[in-house]
Amino acid sequence: MDLIKKLHEIVGIDRATTSPMQLYCYSSDSSQIRGTPECVVRPQNTGQVSQVLRFANEHDIPVTARGAGTGLAGGAVALEGGIVLDLSGMDRILDIDINNLQVAVEPGVIHSRLNEVLGTEGFFFPPDPGSSEMCTLGGLIANNGSGMRSVKYGTTRSYVLDLEIVMADGSVINTGSKTLKSSAGYDLTRLMVGSEGTLGIITKAVLKILPLPKARTVVLASFDNPVLAGEAVVKTLSAGVIPSACEILDRATVEVLNAYDPNIAIPDAGATILFELDGTVSSVKEQAKIVEAVCMPFASGIRIAAGGEEMKEIWSARRLVGAAISRIDPNKTRVYVGEDIGVPIKEVPRMLKFIQSISGEFGLPIITYGHIGDGNLHTGMCIDMLDNEQWKQLDLAADKIHRTAIMLGGTVSAEHGIGSARSKYMRLERGNALDVMILIKRALDPRGILNPGKLGL
Ligand code: LAC
Ligand code: ZN
Repeated sequence: MDLIKKLHEIVGIDRATTSPMQLYCYSSDSSQIRGTPECVVRPQNTGQVSQVLRFANEHDIPVTARGAGTGLAGGAVALEGGIVLDLSGMDRILDIDINNLQVAVEPGVIHSRLNEVLGTEGFFFPPDPGSSEMCTLGGLIANNGSGMRSVKYGTTRSYVLDLEIVMADGSVINTGSKTLKSSAGYDLTRLMVGSEGTLGIITKAVLKILPLPKARTVVLASFDNPVLAGEAVVKTLSAGVIPSACEILDRATVEVLNAYDPNIAIPDAGATILFELDGTVSSVKEQAKIVEAVCMPFASGIRIAAGGEEMKEIWSARRLVGAAISRIDPNKTRVYVGEDIGVPIKEVPRMLKFIQSISGEFGLPIITYGHIGDGNLHTGMCIDMLDNEQWKQLDLAADKIHRTAIMLGGTVSAEHGIGSARSKYMRLERGNALDVMILIKRALDPRGILNPGKLGL
C-alpha cells in the first residue's frame, strides 16, 4: 500500500505531504508533547475526510485531527505516527441564521473571526478563549474549551446544537438538529464535544448564538492576597450576581503585564479580581453596586473601569498573560503543566492556599491567574529548560497540583483538555467511569485509529 499515493488521489497533489520539514512543523502543539506523523493531509470537504478515514481504517493507520495547534495538552500531536488531518483549511462560515439564533460553520473557522462577523449583526458566540485570535472552532469544540465568559454563559458544550461527524469507518452522521432542544435519544452531540478527536472527526458544527448585551462594565477589586480574593468571589456568586467574566490576576501576573506594557493600569496588589458585568445600563449599575458592597470587607481597593476603551485595554492585557509570563525571567521558559485545574467554587480559597504551599515546598514561583468565577485556575511555572533538577521539581509540583484539585472534588482540566499530558490522571479523577469511556471508544472506533494514546483510554 502506498499511503501518500492514495492520499494524493483523494485530496490532490498539493494537499498531502511527507516532506520532513512539513512533518516537523506538525510534530507539536503548544505543549511539550512531541510526535511526528508519517504524512499530513489538508482536506477541503467532508467527502475527502470520509475517504481518508475509510482508507485509514481499512489499513489500521492512526489519524490525528488538528486545527490551529494551540492546544496545551498534546491533543493534536500524532503519538503513533500515521496521518495528521489538518482541518484548518475547512474554514467557511456556512450560514448565519439570525432568526433561528444559530450559525453553521466548518471546523477551521478562527474563533475571533466568527465573533467579528456576528458582531456586525448585533450577536455573539459567548465562549471566549484566551487564544481567540488563533484557535479554531473545531479545536474549541473537540476540547470543550471556554475561557472568560463561561461563569455566566456556560462552556462551548452549551452552544453546540449539531455536529457533522465523520466516524472512524468513514461514515458520516449528524449528532443533533437545528432545534434548540431535543429529547430524541442519546445525546451524541455532548458525547462528541470534548472527545478530543478520539471518537470521530468534526466536519461541520451548528452553534447557538445570542444577542450582544446592551451594556458592559468592569469592576476591578484589589486584595492583599489571592485567598482573600477567592473568598470575595465565593461570596459574590452566592449573593446572586453572576458576572459575565470573573478573572483573578495575582501580584506576579500584574507585574508581568506591567513589564510587558507599562501603560496597563491594573492595580498593583496581592491579587486583583476583574468582574465583568453585562445586561442593560441599569442592571449593570445595580450589579456593580452589589459586587462593591460584597467585596468591600475583603478588598483593599475597588474601582470601576472608566469606559469602553479601558475595558478593551484590560481584556487585551488579560489575553497576553499566557505569553507575557515568559518575560518574568529571560533565562527561563514557561512550561504548561498543571496549568488548568478546576475546583468547586467553595474550594477556591483552599486551592489557592494549597498552590502557595506547593510553590514553597518545591521552591518554584507559581503565578496564578484565570477564570476564578468557574473555579478554573491557571498556574504559570517557569524553569531553565536545561536544568534537569528544575524539570524534576516542576513535574512534582504539577503532580501535586493535579492531585490536590482531584482531592477537592475538582478536575485536572477545566478547559484545555486531557490529551496525553494529563491522561495518567483519568483513572484517579473519573474512577470506573473511565471503563465506560473505554467501552464507548471500542464501539465507535474498534480498530483504535482515532487519535491513539490520548485520554487514558
Ligand atoms: C487563558 C488560557 C491559558 O485563559 O486558557 O489565558
Ligand atoms: Zn483560560
